[in-house]
Amino acid sequence: MSLLIQNGTIITPDQRFVADILVTGETIDRIAPRIDPAEAGDVELIDANGKYVFPGFIDPHVHIYLPFMGTYAKDTYDSGSRAALVGGTTTLIEMCCPAREDDPWEAYQLWKSKAEGISACDYSFHMGVTRFDESTAPLLRRIVDDGITSFKVFLAYKGAFGVNDEELYQTCRLARELGVVVTAHCENADLVAQLQSALVAAGKVGPEFHEPSRPVSVEAEGVHHFCTFLKMTGASGYIVHTSCRDAVEAALKFQTQGVDVAIETVIPYLVLDKTYAERPDFEGAKYVMSPPIRDRDHQAYLWNALRAGLISTVATDHAPFDFAGQKEMGKPPESDFTKIPNGIPSVEHRPTLLYTHGVASGRIDLHRFVELLSTAAAKQFGMFPRKGSIQPGCDADLVIWDPEYRGTISAATHTMDTDYDGFEGFEIVGRPEVVTCRGQVSVREGRFVGTLGHGRQVTRHLRSQTQP
Ligand code: URP
Ligand code: ZN
Ligand code: ZN
Ligand code: ZN
Repeated sequence: MSLLIQNGTIITPDQRFVADILVTGETIDRIAPRIDPAEAGDVELIDANGKYVFPGFIDPHVHIYLPFMGTYAKDTYDSGSRAALVGGTTTLIEMCCPAREDDPWEAYQLWKSKAEGISACDYSFHMGVTRFDESTAPLLRRIVDDGITSFKVFLAYKGAFGVNDEELYQTCRLARELGVVVTAHCENADLVAQLQSALVAAGKVGPEFHEPSRPVSVEAEGVHHFCTFLKMTGASGYIVHTSCRDAVEAALKFQTQGVDVAIETVIPYLVLDKTYAERPDFEGAKYVMSPPIRDRDHQAYLWNALRAGLISTVATDHAPFDFAGQKEMGKPPESDFTKIPNGIPSVEHRPTLLYTHGVASGRIDLHRFVELLSTAAAKQFGMFPRKGSIQPGCDADLVIWDPEYRGTISAATHTMDTDYDGFEGFEIVGRPEVVTCRGQVSVREGRFVGTLGHGRQVTRHLRSQTQP
C-alpha cells in the first residue's frame, strides 16, 4: 500500500512549502501542491494539515551494545530502535567499540548481529579502532568495503578503548588513504588518570567530582591533539560530544588552518549543567558522562555556536545504564565516581528537547533544526540525499511533527530500557505524531506501531564518491 501525506508543511534546511507527498513502497514517489488520491490507487491517507514534515532524523552517535566499565549498556536494538523511532530518529549510527584485544572484523560481525533482524529503524556503525598493528589495516579495509565509511578513536579511556599516538597516526593515515572520516572522543587520558587519582586520594569520591577530574582544558587538549594528527596526515575528522567553549575554539583554530574537522555536540550539554551531577544522595550519578556536563556558561556558548553554524550536528551519545545496580557501581563509601558507568540515555528525547529549547525558545529556526538533526549528519556520513532530504527517489523516512503537542518526559512513560530518565519532569513542546521509516508507518500518535526487523544497515558512500 502507498501513503499519501496531505497538506503538510515540508521543512528542509533551505525550503518551506505546503505540499502532498506520495510514498510508494520504500521511497518518495512524488511531491506536488495537490495529489489526487484517486490517481494514487490503494493508498492510506495521512492528514498533515498544520503539521511540519521533516526528513527522518539521524542520530550519528549512539551506543546500544556496549561492554563498558565492567557492565553492559542497557538497551538492545529492540528497545533502542523503538525509542529512536518514537523520538523521530529513523537512522542511527552506532559506535562499534571492540576491546583492545578483539579482532576488528569479528567485532564488527558481533555488533551487526545485535541489530540484524531486530532493529526497527535503519542503522550503520562507526568502526572503533582500539588497536592498530600489522593485522589491522586489511580488516579495516574489508569493513570499509562493507559500507562503513567512518572510524572511531578514543583518546580517553586509557587501558580500555584508548589508542596511543602511534595507533592514532596509523588510523588517520589509513583514513586519509581510503577517504574515511575519523570520529574522535577527545580528552587527554593521562591527565584524566592523574586528576582522578588525586581527587580519590583526597577523599573526593562522589559524582560531583567527575567534572573536576575532566576539566575543560583536558578536553581542549584532546581536541588540539587530535586535530594536530589530522593536520599531519590530511585526514578528515569529526569531534564527537563537544561539551564546552574551550574545545570548540580549539577545533575552530584548526578549521581556519584548512583542517577538515566537523564538530558535534550532544543534547545533554544543551539542556543540563554540572549542578545535576552535584545532586545529593548519589542522584548525581545519573548525570555522569564524559566529557562531563559543564558550567551553564558553556551551554549558552554551545547554543550560540549552533546558531552560528560552528557546530554541525546535535547527536545524543545515548549510553544507557540503570541507576540501580549499574550507576551504583560507583557509590561511596565502598566505591568512587571513577567506577560510575559513563553515559546518559537520550536517544528518544533529542528531537523534542532540541525543538523545545531551540526552536520554541527562539534560539534556532526550523531550518537549522532539521539540518542539525538530519541533513548535516546525512552529508557528513555518506547517506545524502537518500537520507536527510525530502525529494522524489529518497527513502521515505519522514517525521510528521505536531507543534501543538505539550507533554512531560518521564521514566514511567519512556521507551528506553533504563530505570531512570535524566530529563525527568522536563516539559516538552511538540513531538513526532507519525514517523515513517522507508515507507513503513512506525509511529502513530506518538506510539510505536512499526515492526522489529524492518530496519536495515545503510551502505554509506565515501564523501568523495559520486552519489547514487
Ligand atoms: O559518557 C559517555 N560518553 N559514555 C559513552 C562512551 C563515550 O565516551 O562515548
Ligand atoms: Zn566518548
Ligand atoms: Zn596533546
Ligand atoms: Zn559515545
